[in-house]
Amino acid sequence: MGKVVLANDHGAVELANIIREHLEKRGFSVHHLGVVSHDSVDYPDMAAAACTEFLKGGYDFGVVCCGTGIGISISANKFDKILCALPQNVFAASMAKMHNNANFLAFGGRIDYQEPVTAMLDAFIDNKFEGGRHATRVNKMKALGCKSC
Ligand code: RB5
Repeated sequence: MGKVVLANDHGAVELANIIREHLEKRGFSVHHLGVVSHDSVDYPDMAAAACTEFLKGGYDFGVVCCGTGIGISISANKFDKILCALPQNVFAASMAKMHNNANFLAFGGRIDYQEPVTAMLDAFIDNKFEGGRHATRVNKMKALGCKSC
């Protein structure tokens, strides 16, 4: 059974529930790190919790959500070995896997998506990384992380 780590801030409580239920329906075991209340929390803390858990190993991918998906995706991408995509539609979600080999997806609970987040998740899950020239680019992208070290 595949395993997914999920975390969200107060801006995406309902969306996180939808995501968890959908992933479970698809047969994934979902480790939800919260939050489940609308009390304010800081999205970098939720990103850090999800990325730290993911990096322990055993997860297929991670999902992080905040109001827009922006703050939590930027935060997740601060972690070495995390490639967090913020897809706006099904096409972008499939490309996040096929071309970018992302291991995290971010979504916004306050975003009015034109296509369902569940369909974006499916597009990500049901596609494969194409490798080849995309692997070259992904490797270059990962190497950029050290530029300011
Ligand atoms: C929290 O109010 C909000 O700023 C956060 O959920 C997210 O949208 C940040 O990018």
